[in-house]
Amino acid sequence: MAQFIKADRLADVELSDIVRMSRAAREARTEGRFIIDLGIGEPDFNTPDHANEAAIAAICAHDTQYPPIAGKMPLREAVAGLYAGRSADNVIITSGSKYALLNAMLASLNQGDEVICLAPFWVSYAHIIRLCGGVPIVVPCRADADFRPDLDAIGKAMTPRTRWLIVNSPSNPSGAVLTADDLRGIGGLVAAHPQCWLLSDEIYEHITYEQDFASAAAVLPELADRTLIVSGVSKSYAMTGWRVGYGVAPAPLIDAMTTAQAQGTAGTSTPAQAAALAALTGDQNLLTDRREQFRHRRDLVLEHIAKMDGITTSKPMGAFYVFPSWQARMGWQTPDGKVLKNDMDFCQYMLGAGVAVIPGSAFGTAGHFRISYAADPQEIKDAMELMAGAVADLREIR
Ligand SMILES: Cc1ncc(COP(=O)(O)O)c(C=O)c1O
Repeated sequence: MAQFIKADRLADVELSDIVRMSRAAREARTEGRFIIDLGIGEPDFNTPDHANEAAIAAICAHDTQYPPIAGKMPLREAVAGLYAGRSADNVIITSGSKYALLNAMLASLNQGDEVICLAPFWVSYAHIIRLCGGVPIVVPCRADADFRPDLDAIGKAMTPRTRWLIVNSPSNPSGAVLTADDLRGIGGLVAAHPQCWLLSDEIYEHITYEQDFASAAAVLPELADRTLIVSGVSKSYAMTGWRVGYGVAPAPLIDAMTTAQAQGTAGTSTPAQAAALAALTGDQNLLTDRREQFRHRRDLVLEHIAKMDGITTSKPMGAFYVFPSWQARMGWQTPDGKVLKNDMDFCQYMLGAGVAVIPGSAFGTAGHFRISYAADPQEIKDAMELMAGAVADLREIR
């Protein structure tokens, strides 16, 4: 058989530990084992009915032709209306917000350009940057201060090659929410480096609890000519499978992203755009209701973790993840004699106990694991009890 030669550009784009753990969980289930999946970052709610109905109406009206590459005008206008001072020219509709990120990197990075990612970060950033020839520069947030950004460290990491600084609030995986002051501090650093742009991934914008969400668009209007906001309907409206996201940016970047998109997806599915328009312009009360359900689930997770010796966590203020530390149990032994040396070992051990969670190393921050609480509350309770039992069974090696 002829040998397949993989492109060099894929050399550093590994299968993420998120995908690996999801596979392991699926295989365990196929083998008939009982697994509660707190790994997956996907709301367990349904797409709102009015969004489904809008898509069906679009299909029945034969609104199924190629879309305009940058997106259908009513949806671009609706998105622009969410951000002061922006028009449809500042908006591109993409196949999920992930594709807005890929488009932006394709459109802006040259070989060796640097992009700052604040750890812990959604691992796809690093893969997308590498795929586009860039170099992810990882700057840890302050784990001792609820994962707030470390402005000194970011400032030191910036060089003449820094093209982007990426922020993600509320954060996947830490649940940290940037304050307006945090954003102003970051904005000051970007302002001091004219070749650097700010990318604000706001996909979890509607899922915040005790702390209000602050958008980079609202807090940093003076940086509007160097800011890309990325968001979409996946998380807030439980529409992951529709694959609709968007980018909001100065028109020259939107034009360049549209050029890249023209040779990629050539645009986002037209019925899916109709569904997204209905979600964004329809009744928004469901956001409050879902937020309260997520808050209840978060509190459930936090209550259980507080009772686990050796596991500590900050209190997430948004998204639907908790990112606890298990460092105090690193090097301890499981009942069948395995020493837990790294995050993957810990997560494999939890999988053995019946719970799928994701290693912190997958997000650039070892010594942690990510729990997604986008799951049924009874399942969360059962999973946390299984986890507590497994943690209590660990023994220190003397
Ligand atoms: C931080 C962050 N950004 C972007 C995305 C991509 O979402 P989508 O492509 O479904 O819009 C995700 C999905 O997990 C995410 O966690």
